Amino acid sequence: MANIHKLVLGTWKIRYKFHFIAGILLVAFVIPALYLTGDSRIFLEQQTTPNDSIPHCDLFSGKWVYDNISYPLYKEKQCFLVEDAFACEKYGRKDLKYQKWRWQPHDCDLPRFNATALLEKLREKKLVFVGDSLNRNQFGSMLCLIEKSIPPSSSKSLIWKGNSVIFNIAHYNATIEFYWSPFLVESNCDDLADHRVQTRIIRVKAIEKHARQWTDADILVFDSFMWWLMPKITLLWGSFGSPDAIYKEVGTRYRRFEIALNTWADWTEFHINRNRTKLFFMSLSPFHSVADWGMDMGRNCYNETEPIFGKGYWGSGTDPGMMKAVESVIHKLKTRGLKIEYLNITHLSGYRKDAHPSVYRRYFVPSTEEKLANPESRSDCVHWCLPGVPDVWNVILYSSIMRS
Ligand SMILES: *[C@@H]1O[C@H](CO)[C@@H](O)[C@H](O)[C@H]1NC(C)=O
Ligand SMILES: *[C@@H]1O[C@H](CO)[C@@H](O)[C@H](O)[C@H]1NC(C)=O
Ligand SMILES: *[C@@H]1O[C@H](CO)[C@@H](O)[C@H](O)[C@H]1NC(C)=O
Ligand SMILES: *[C@@H]1O[C@H](CO)[C@@H](O)[C@H](O)[C@H]1NC(C)=O
Ligand SMILES: *[C@@H]1O[C@H](CO)[C@@H](O)[C@H](O)[C@H]1NC(C)=O
Ligand SMILES: *[C@@H]1O[C@H](CO)[C@@H](O)[C@H](O)[C@H]1NC(C)=O
Ligand SMILES: *[C@@H]1O[C@H](CO)[C@@H](O)[C@H](O)[C@H]1NC(C)=O
Repeated sequence: MANIHKLVLGTWKIRYKFHFIAGILLVAFVIPALYLTGDSRIFLEQQTTPNDSIPHCDLFSGKWVYDNISYPLYKEKQCFLVEDAFACEKYGRKDLKYQKWRWQPHDCDLPRFNATALLEKLREKKLVFVGDSLNRNQFGSMLCLIEKSIPPSSSKSLIWKGNSVIFNIAHYNATIEFYWSPFLVESNCDDLADHRVQTRIIRVKAIEKHARQWTDADILVFDSFMWWLMPKITLLWGSFGSPDAIYKEVGTRYRRFEIALNTWADWTEFHINRNRTKLFFMSLSPFHSVADWGMDMGRNCYNETEPIFGKGYWGSGTDPGMMKAVESVIHKLKTRGLKIEYLNITHLSGYRKDAHPSVYRRYFVPSTEEKLANPESRSDCVHWCLPGVPDVWNVILYSSIMRS
């Protein structure tokens, strides 16, 4: 909480006023002009077109198509909000094909991402991504997707505060936020900047410290996966430091995940305002640390420049048991009248062995000589380069937000 950094990205108050006046003039002249044409269909078309263009088919079943015309949706260099952990081009990646693949669902097209339309939808609202660094990856993608559509007259700010990274767009009074809680529930890894702990301890029955920070959001996007894969994690009943606390090392990953998910579900069931808040859960983001697509042992995503084309490829970097745990808790909440949209992006992302940073990112712990000599050993095959795969997740999220 002590650390509050604020980066003001620009305030152009005078121009803002000018645009505001220009806006009024536009309303004054253009609207009567439309009326004067006497053609009311213009209004009807404007209302119905966006609705009709949002597909209702299964967006998660499809294939990757090379499309260097419409992709990437933004240039890495033009989005200065790309974090160094995802800025692959900046960190020396030369093959840029990974930026140019479009996800093509079998039965329809993804809608075109219209940042202005999304910002209009987020006016006076708060969208919060809650979870681990994959969600942070998606948050970063979202900021890049909207950045160039923010009116130059609007001030914007990016603030790090407690567990949050908060992006504010004054013109829309809209907030897009990332909230760090890799296990969703409380743990000893909850410090946004410093979470590399030796022994992970999860307070599986407690979530309120985090949840009270995000419960009032209008749109919530959750994820949690990678951090649960450790062979052994200590679970804590009671509070950190309390003499009554009970610690227990638990090896079965599904059970500990389920307990935490139930804590999360119980909170959301009773504390979310169903009339206000729309909920999403991202299915797990697959990694490519073991080359199970027909390569030699010991290989990973390093040096990969093409997606996997084998239809139905389902790699070892996913975990159907972990997916089931999430799916079943979402189902249970549905029976209790709380709807959570599950964005099932695992399979589509699984084809993209080419889209991870591997060695082309900033590492926060310097590499040893030995690792530098052996790039595969220091490859990040978990996160995704930006522009890249999380943009597609956001287009899918966008299509659902626009439909609501
Ligand atoms: C938009 O789509 C929703 C859900 O499919 C539908 O209920 C609504 O009538 C549509 N609105 C318009 C203006 O077509
Ligand atoms: C897109 O890719 C095709 C085939 O690889 C190439 O011929 C074309 O020049 C590329 N266009 C752009 C705009 O990069
Ligand atoms: C994007 O959305 C805005 C606001 O709804 C609309 O005015 C504009 O025409 C849209 N742009 C495209 C390319 O569809
Ligand atoms: C901005 O939006 C928030 C909701 O996110 C609302 O509580 C607040 O009153 C708004 N502020 C202004 C100046 O409209
Ligand atoms: C939600 O809306 C329903 C119907 O409009 C209303 O009866 C209920 O009190 C609302 N709930 C909350 C928490 O605002
Ligand atoms: C990476 O790919 C390049 C070009 O295909 C090849 O020359 C090089 O040996 C590869 N490196 C490794 C470690 O596989
Ligand atoms: C998620 O997608 C996978 C593969 O496309 C599918 O097998 C699974 O049934 C889907 N899960 C849900 C809950 O729709």
